[in-house]
Amino acid sequence: MFNPEYTDLITLKSRAYNLRWAETPEGVIPLTAADPDFPCAPEISEAISQYTSKRYFNYAPPEGLPLFRESMSEFMFRKRSVSISPEKILAVDSAAFGIYLICQSFLQKGDEALIFDPVDFLFRYSVEAAGAKAVSYAIAAGVVDETFSEMELLITPSTKMICLCNPLNPTGKVFTKEELEKLLALAEKYNLLILSDEIWSDIVFHPHTFTSIASLNASAKNRTITVTGFSKSYGLAGLRIGAVMAENPEIYERIVETSRHRSTVHGANVIGQVAAATAMNACENWLSGFIEHLHHMRSFCVESFNQIPQFSCIAPEGCYVAFADIRNTGMTSSEMHAHLLTHAKVAVVPGLAKWFGPGAEGYIRISFATSSAILQEAFERMKSSLT
Ligand SMILES: Cc1ncc(COP(=O)(O)O)c(C=O)c1O
Repeated sequence: MFNPEYTDLITLKSRAYNLRWAETPEGVIPLTAADPDFPCAPEISEAISQYTSKRYFNYAPPEGLPLFRESMSEFMFRKRSVSISPEKILAVDSAAFGIYLICQSFLQKGDEALIFDPVDFLFRYSVEAAGAKAVSYAIAAGVVDETFSEMELLITPSTKMICLCNPLNPTGKVFTKEELEKLLALAEKYNLLILSDEIWSDIVFHPHTFTSIASLNASAKNRTITVTGFSKSYGLAGLRIGAVMAENPEIYERIVETSRHRSTVHGANVIGQVAAATAMNACENWLSGFIEHLHHMRSFCVESFNQIPQFSCIAPEGCYVAFADIRNTGMTSSEMHAHLLTHAKVAVVPGLAKWFGPGAEGYIRISFATSSAILQEAFERMKSSLT
């Protein structure tokens, strides 16, 4: 069972890096990187213990353990209405690497790829690391019924790929089926690949529902490369595990070739794969408890942000991040970040271009995957530092 009030700060302070407990000064509450403050489901640690008790850690198949690939395939069918064979699923050492790998496989100097703005920095990073140009398409926080009509104006003969982040970190938008159909129509018209990052797809708040773009029809499935990971829903970031899926055989083969998994230069470790398979097969109840808690924390954060003068925050439809508009305060994102760190001892992510693109300026992002006690304390401190 998920326990919404259990956070072991002593362990977090020694293990949670990436701008969080282990990296922030004593006394600071880090609402920074989206990595839960909760331990993973006990079923996962039990499965890891059982696996390690045999004391054999041999080479695994380069594309992933059958257990992992079959579990992922069943998960996609059962929960995402996408029928994808296990042979078209590559275990990778994180969603981050999955995005990077797809860009390395299909982009080169002179190419262009469309990315959202704001969006997680990994998209721009990966497109540019492949030598290509990342072209930003603005989707402001709170946009409903996105038509993508303006996106067409950004497409050139060099455009090769649309990078879809659904649900969208940091604004929390969950794209509807109708919106995805419009995006797909553009991809079809200009013969573009779709990279669909669905790492946040479990974290969707009622009444919103998630649609996998590959589930729309055969054409969508044929041009989509889906990436997912287990850091957000199951708290497994340190295990570095994710999956890249493409039903189109030529696309899949090119990704595997680029991955260098067959040469053993790269590959996903077996413990991460066992953990992820257990997450998909045995942790449904734990996940429901986690999402229910997040639903409460979302309401709390949105209400609390909106009580701070000159702050405004729209409820995210998905993701456990709240993206607050601070433009009316007269401070920049950087100034607000510094103010909150110094005067409230709360670390937030400033809406800097380096994290989310230029469209994030004037916003700050917090992660609310923590206990209500920690969030209450953080908001009390933020409010009193600003009023
Ligand atoms: C949209 C998105 N994709 C990918 C990642 C990275 O996931 P992983 O830990 O599997 O590399 C993140 C992490 O914040 C994310 O928000």
